Amino acid sequence: MLILGIETSCDETAASVVADGKVILSNVVSSSLVHHKKYGGIIPEIASRKQLEFIHVVVADALKTAKKKLSQLDGIAVTNRPGLIGSLLVGTSFAHGLAYCQKIPIVKVDHITAHLYASFLRFKDVKQKQYQPRLPAIGLIVSGGHSSIFLIKNFNNIVLLGQTRDDAAGEAYDKVSRILGLGYPGGPAIDRLAEQGVNTEIKFSSAELPGTYDFSFSGVKTAVYYLVNRCKDPKKIPVRKIAYSFQKSVVDILVKKAIDACRQKKVKTLVVGGGVAANSALRQKLIRAGDEHSVNVFFPEMSLCMDNAAMIAGLGFHLIDQPRTKRSVAA
Ligand code: KG4
Ligand code: ZN
Repeated sequence: MLILGIETSCDETAASVVADGKVILSNVVSSSLVHHKKYGGIIPEIASRKQLEFIHVVVADALKTAKKKLSQLDGIAVTNRPGLIGSLLVGTSFAHGLAYCQKIPIVKVDHITAHLYASFLRFKDVKQKQYQPRLPAIGLIVSGGHSSIFLIKNFNNIVLLGQTRDDAAGEAYDKVSRILGLGYPGGPAIDRLAEQGVNTEIKFSSAELPGTYDFSFSGVKTAVYYLVNRCKDPKKIPVRKIAYSFQKSVVDILVKKAIDACRQKKVKTLVVGGGVAANSALRQKLIRAGDEHSVNVFFPEMSLCMDNAAMIAGLGFHLIDQPRTKRSVAA
């Protein structure tokens, strides 16, 4: 079964063709990030205008790369929440138009839970992974907009266990990066610098919120802000050390809560998704903690950590309405 995925929830315009919810035949992502950089964050109006400009090119490219025609598709999966309203409108309107013309089913997919699906996908040219994630699993989502822990019983039954009460992990990275003058997006820059800033004298800690799977990152962000403001000479701000300690405080709490969830729910599989899943310290520490507690930890391919349409098509395959053939669907 061939599903075309369309993703336009933030600054990306993405389309992908996925076979049977598993194999990625194409994965095209066009980002308008360069147009937002000078503002230090995403400008919704610019994002949706660029998406309107590029969506047909991106979808055509995804079909061409997959060597498939529109008429060969069995369904369309499109992100419909959460995201920037103008951007979502571009993707959902385009997807509805295509589905109507082709007389194929359309399914609306939640962007956050789709991030959980990225670890279940593989690219066409890559051979089957030796170990596949198995359900039930705990899912940790760490993106620019969300930090959440889920219990995935199956793809139709995903239960939210906890989430951030204020900033998301990626949002905290981006804001701290701005305070340190490192630009946007902040995650990759802080990740790089943190490696060179190992230290013991600067210590930050993220709120524990005991007894819950919730997170809070605004406190650590504010602590960075006050520390930087206390430095009289901007040249003497210990940027690398701050990056290291900030990253440690975020990663440690993510690892603790995700592993606690696995142990308390007696689940042996952990899947991680979202932009912050690309973080090198998070990857190392979670895999180590997984080994210690007999939890199999799965991260997506690097290119699937960021927003993409393959995860939308993949999860869409499991959610799409029965009957599944286009012949039986009335437009
Ligand atoms: O999932 P995503 O592409 O967008 C949302 O759906 O929100 O995630 C983008 C976020 C940004 O906040 C970015 O700073 C963060 O992912 N990010 C990272 C890294 N690479 C991207 N955060 C920490 N370390 C990284 N290596
Ligand atoms: Zn995302």
